[in-house]
Amino acid sequence: MQILLTGGAGFIGSHTAIELMAAGHSVVIVDNFVNSSPEAHRRIEEISGQKVPLVEADVADRDAMEALFSEYQFDCVVHFAGLKAVGESVQQPLRYYRNNLDTTLTLCETMQRHGCKCIVFSSSATVYGVPDEVPLREDMFCKGCTNPYGWTKYMIEKILMGVCDADPEWSVVLLRYFNPIGAHESGRIGENPSGIPNNLMPYITRVAAGTLEKLHVFGNDYQTHDGTGVRDYIHVVDLAKGHVKACQYAEGRQGCDIVNLGTGVGYSVLDLVKTFEKVNGIQIPYEISPRRAGDVDACFADPKKAAEVLGWRAEKNLEDMCRDAWNYQKNNPKGY
Ligand code: UFG
Repeated sequence: MQILLTGGAGFIGSHTAIELMAAGHSVVIVDNFVNSSPEAHRRIEEISGQKVPLVEADVADRDAMEALFSEYQFDCVVHFAGLKAVGESVQQPLRYYRNNLDTTLTLCETMQRHGCKCIVFSSSATVYGVPDEVPLREDMFCKGCTNPYGWTKYMIEKILMGVCDADPEWSVVLLRYFNPIGAHESGRIGENPSGIPNNLMPYITRVAAGTLEKLHVFGNDYQTHDGTGVRDYIHVVDLAKGHVKACQYAEGRQGCDIVNLGTGVGYSVLDLVKTFEKVNGIQIPYEISPRRAGDVDACFADPKKAAEVLGWRAEKNLEDMCRDAWNYQKNNPKGY
């Protein structure tokens, strides 16, 4: 297949590009580098040993998208492009709604005009809102999100469902990611948040590197085995392989389907800290701090549907995630 990756230079997009090529597909990347680097593209080519066409453009730019779809015939699009920082979305709701919705609408309109009706979308477990029970299944009612970023994912899911309802030729797969961490085992590509990281693993790797003094563990009075928040951490390479399966699944069908990409196993903040310390031999100083607004006790996937419909399940464990995350940080102390 010839596959377009919007936001293909980002953390998940770059790993997916590698896995798609390893599975024999060809990829084209469109990225505006607002939260990524051209260096990621160079390293994708380095790891894969293949040339990867790159278009520097905003997916909301109609003319640029029209030119892109006129030049290539895509069998499928994986839509990663979007702003993704939860806290920032609370501060800048209009920017988040404008950016994430505009890019999706422009992309889908362009796809429609060019008869490309197959899309895999980067959604998030955030659409489940505050869960009544775990594990989370795709057929559970989504009660509402806790921030504008989450709402953009929720709204884009609804937009894509509507597109499928209106035109049965469309094939949509909505992938709800849990907590992607880790990095490619080469240590050449990984996660590069700008500024002080909001997410747990990049924060830990910077404490390990000595750039940040200590980890703040947000709350130890949750209803979990050790009181700290429990999440379903998934290795980004496993997640990328899930996209390969999702593209292959999407190509041969019509209609909309929703699939969780998680391991089904929840680990606490302190589980992650201890595993990181053990596999990398580095102490992570931490202190217990107040809860972070909007955080839930526990969030993890029921991964059965992914196994059934995609024939995919996560293979890497928490040790792999901690080792590979540190390997990337160690080899790239200043990012790309
Ligand atoms: N945490 C800390 N200290 C930190 C950062 C995080 O204790 O410095 C804790 C959080 O309280 C939480 C856990 O680590 O218990 C994981 O937090 P992350 O910020 O890494 O991840 P979240 O589960 O909050 O958010 C992730 C994605 C979002 C997505 C959400 C729901 O970052 O994009 O999952 O699926 F919306």
